[in-house]
Formats: sequence, structure tokens, C-alpha cells
Amino acid sequence: MKADIGLIGLAVMGENLVLNMESKGFTVAVYNRTVDKVDKFINGRGQGKKFIGAHSIEELVASLERPRKVMMLVKAGQPVDSFIDQIIPHLEEGDIIIDGGNSHYPDTIRRTQYVESKGLLYIGTGVSGGEEGALLGPSMMPGGSNEAWPHVKDIFQAVAAKVEDGTPCCDWVGENGAGHFVKMVHNGIEYGDMQIISEAYFLMKNLLGMSHAEMHETFKEWNEGELDSYLIEITRDILGFVDEDGAPLVEKILDTAGQKGTGKWTGISALDLGIPLTLIGESVFARCLSAQKDIRVEASKAITGPQPEFKGDKAAFIEDLRKALLASKIVSYAQGYNLMQEAAKEYNWNLNYGGIALMWRGGCIIRSVFLGKIKEAFDNNPTLMNLLLDPYFKEKVEDAQQSWRNVVATAMMNGIAVPCFASALTYFDGFRSEQLPANMLQAQRDYFGAHTYERVDKPRGEFFHTNWTGRGGDTASSTYNV
Ligand code: 2AM
Repeated sequence: MKADIGLIGLAVMGENLVLNMESKGFTVAVYNRTVDKVDKFINGRGQGKKFIGAHSIEELVASLERPRKVMMLVKAGQPVDSFIDQIIPHLEEGDIIIDGGNSHYPDTIRRTQYVESKGLLYIGTGVSGGEEGALLGPSMMPGGSNEAWPHVKDIFQAVAAKVEDGTPCCDWVGENGAGHFVKMVHNGIEYGDMQIISEAYFLMKNLLGMSHAEMHETFKEWNEGELDSYLIEITRDILGFVDEDGAPLVEKILDTAGQKGTGKWTGISALDLGIPLTLIGESVFARCLSAQKDIRVEASKAITGPQPEFKGDKAAFIEDLRKALLASKIVSYAQGYNLMQEAAKEYNWNLNYGGIALMWRGGCIIRSVFLGKIKEAFDNNPTLMNLLLDPYFKEKVEDAQQSWRNVVATAMMNGIAVPCFASALTYFDGFRSEQLPANMLQAQRDYFGAHTYERVDKPRGEFFHTNWTGRGGDTASSTYNV
């Protein structure tokens, strides 16, 4: 019997994903660099199931139905390139190499081109949902060679998470690196969602003086409404979790965040493409600042600020917090979608924006009811320029606006840092402003660098330079600096 698909890399994700595939009726051939792990798996969790253990790449490839599908779930970076080169000599035209790891999208763009140049097909797919997701239904975001999709569609959609109506959280994202790009943006959005939830918790604890039981209850209520999501749900559970001594475990955890780099990649990509991805950017910087624990301890003793003191209606402020969270989240997704739209232009991807929301709707870390609304927004208007202009989301932020301002202003007056709530609100105010102070920037640029400016009383595209001091010449930089 031949296998439907082969997998290289029996670590946590690989092992769970192949068990998932097998449970859906597929036969899977498995291989791992450290070959012992193959037998261990076949005689362990894989016992009595439709697996073929391969002890070499050659054996793995030989056990596959054509067109052969070889999926790698190995450490991102050099190991992926190395396996591609080891697999290629054993494949024939039309066979498919799949990378299901956390690869950076420029690598996937390069690898798609390389593998296609050998007459083969390539897929780079984001897989989200961790260990449990891999076993029971991850969110999958595949991109690469378009012709490869029909051959893997059944397997991918069978193993992926499903939304209530049975639609799989997996669809074709687009050409070359599009799948890994969308997975990267997913991770950036995850950073942002986590930070805004943490800011709400911090205000509840340090400004309102809420107990962990009260916070647990509040997040429980929030999870029953429009904020219903995996991250709110685990926050609820974290706040209810006590250590051996009966005290909340979360307060014993050192406040220095780690990161693996996908949030940073999203921020870098936004800077490269010129997209104001401010909330995700701030969420990455918030982790960086948290990591500077020693200097913060020193600064906390050296520099004074206001002593937080809440005067007002606590219940009303909790509702303000909920709305601030919702509005900030809308801004974050609006910005993330802008980034994908710009990347699609830059890399010539034909992205299906509603489909992306659906892929994130279940299985992954940012899964939420909210994503169903984003899907609807793009179904109603596939060329929607900004989520804030969709009627549903526009109404939501307008309704939340006063609460959001109250939360940010109160946090500021009490000296409590809320980088993501505040940057989201600032973006919102900038976005809805016909006028920004960039006329002053242009004047400054023209003053010191003769960079020229456009005028409000002349057509766009005509550039002017002024000799501001009477000492400079009349030469504008753009006339010789093109
Ligand atoms: P291993 O079991 O032989 O370490 C996750 O770490 C997966 O990636 C594992 O299957 C691991 O194989 C594989 N992996 C990590 N680094 C690798 C490398 N340099 N070359 C090949 N496989 C590697």
C-alpha cells in the first residue's frame, strides 16, 4: 500500500498533525532526521494505525502515491533548504514539496521559485493552533504553486479546524510566500490581542483594585459576548488559576516577555511597506520594554509619577474597558488587513480577505467570533479599503469611542502605561482626520532640504520650493535628486 502523503519531522507539531491526518482516513509515511524517532513513533502513538515508517528520504519518497506530496515540519531556516535539496533528486515532475513550519515568507518566495525551476511544485503553509490544534484541527494557511492546491486540498481541509457550519479553516491563500505572510500577520495580530488584554487586566488590578476572582468573572462575562475568543477564554482561566499555596499563579510570574520574532517580522514588513501598523508595533515594543526589568526596577525608585487612584463608578469603568478592548482590536485588525492589502500589491498576490478571516475563525490562537464579522465585511465589500469604513465596525467604534477615550485618559492621568490602547486611539483620530500637521513637516523639509511641497490651491502633482531665508538658492532638491 502506498501513502497519501509523507511527513518529515516527528517533533510535537509533526507527530500530532500526522495522527490527525491518519484519523481522517489518510495513510501517512513518516521520516525524521534522528531515525530512532520513526520507530519510536510507529511502535508508540502510531501503533496499529495506517503509518509507514521510513528510515531514509529515499524510502519515504518511494512509499508515496503520485503526485508525491512530501511535507516538512522541521525547524525553520537552514534545515528546510537542506531537506529540499535532499528530496528533489528523488521526485518527478508535478510532485509537491510542502513546508508546514514557521518559515519567513521571503524564504518561501525564494523556495517556490527554486523548486518550480526543477519542474516541481511547492507549498509553504502556515499551521496554527499549537499541539492541540495540530491533533484536533489547526488553522492552515497554504500558499505557493497554484497548481499544487487541488492535490492537497482534500487532505488539508479534512485535517483543518471547522467553523460551526462545517466550513474548514483552510483555503488557498495565494502565490509563493502568501501563506507564510498571512501566518506572520496572524502572529502579529496575536501579539496585539495579547497586549490589549494584558492592558485591560493591568488597569483592573492596579487602578480598580479588583481581586482575581472578580477579574476572572469579568473575563468570563466578556467571553460570552462579542469578545468571545480563545485568548479571552484562557485569560479567564489564568485569572482563576491558583498556585499550590492558593494564591493566583499569574502574580508569581516574572513580568518579562519573551518573543520568537514573528511579531517583529510583521512590524518590519509594515515599515518596509509603509503601513501604519501601530498597535502591533507597540505590542512588540511593549515586550521589549518588559524585558528591561533591571533598569525598570531602578527607574521605578528614581522617577516619581502619579499614585493610581480611581474615583468613579467601577462597574461603568469595567464596561469602558470592554469597549476600549473591542475598539482597539478593530483598529489592530484594520491595520493588519491594510498590511496584507499592501503586500498583495507589492508581491502580486491575489488574496481572498474574507477567506483569510475564515481561516483564522477557528483552530488558531486568534480564533474568535469577531473574525466572523470581518468575513462578513469582506463578503459585503471585497474591495473594502479599511475595516473602520465597514458599516458594522464603524458603528462599533463610534459606540465605543467615549469609553475608549475615558480609559486612555484615565490611564494617562494615573500614570499607567497602555501603549496599545493609546496608539490605537491615536491612529483612529489620525485616520478620521481630513487635516494632519504634515503641512508643517513639508515646510520643514523644504526649509532645510529643498524637498519641495504640494499646495492646497494647486493640483496634486505640482511641486513648489520656497527660498525660506532669502539666503538659499532657488534650486529644489527634486530637480537634481531624482
Ligand atoms: P531531530 O528529531 O532529528 O532533531 C523539530 O525540531 C524538528 O526539526 C525535528 O524533527 C528535528 O529533527 C528537525 N530538525 C531540527 N534541526 C534540524 C536540522 N538541522 N536538520 C534536520 N532536521 C532538523
